[in-house]
Amino acid sequence: MENILKSIRSYFEMEKESGVSEYLFSSKPKDVRLSLVKNQVSGCRKCPLGEMRTNSVFGSGRIDAKLMFVGEAPGHDEDIQGMPFVGEAGVLLTKIIEAMGIEREDVYICNILKCRPPQNRNPLPGEISACIDYLYSQIEMVRPKVICGLGKFASQTLLKIETPISKLRGSWHEYRGIKFMPTYHPAYLLRNPRDKKLVWEDVKKIMEALNG
Ligand code: URA
Repeated sequence: MENILKSIRSYFEMEKESGVSEYLFSSKPKDVRLSLVKNQVSGCRKCPLGEMRTNSVFGSGRIDAKLMFVGEAPGHDEDIQGMPFVGEAGVLLTKIIEAMGIEREDVYICNILKCRPPQNRNPLPGEISACIDYLYSQIEMVRPKVICGLGKFASQTLLKIETPISKLRGSWHEYRGIKFMPTYHPAYLLRNPRDKKLVWEDVKKIMEALNG
């Protein structure tokens, strides 16, 4: 009996790790499940960032998107508007998406953290672990063909790896059977415009994978 309970527990732990955490309403359509998770996020107090935010920033785009971008955390503009990537880095991300021949509305965009860290500091490990199940659920519901990890935090967190982004970017990885391409964060590109050509190389690989 003890062994049976142990294996049931490790099965559910494995499922939870991979984003399956919503058994109670798993018979509901995906869009309903996604909005239930969005509601949970808007009332979330799992870490201190929940008390500091103006708005939580869940995600935007199509639930049936073929391409998902995962960034780091909301900044000032995102916190005010409750939408991901609407500030300066967002303008650049939108240009990248449009250069791929895709409308921004047709991809899904979200972040590792759903609330803005003070002064846009890096996410803390405790904040990431408090928030990560929301992202796992989003990925599970959208099930895109390709995920593009924007920067170190998105890529290292989802791939569970500590390799620097400069080494990770540009080659294919896998997240739960989904092709995963790490690349530089648009905010980094604003500071280092010479590396835009590297991101363009990564993005071309994504276009090939989407069209292939
Ligand atoms: N940077 C991010 O990582 N995410 C946003 O939503 C905005 C800026």
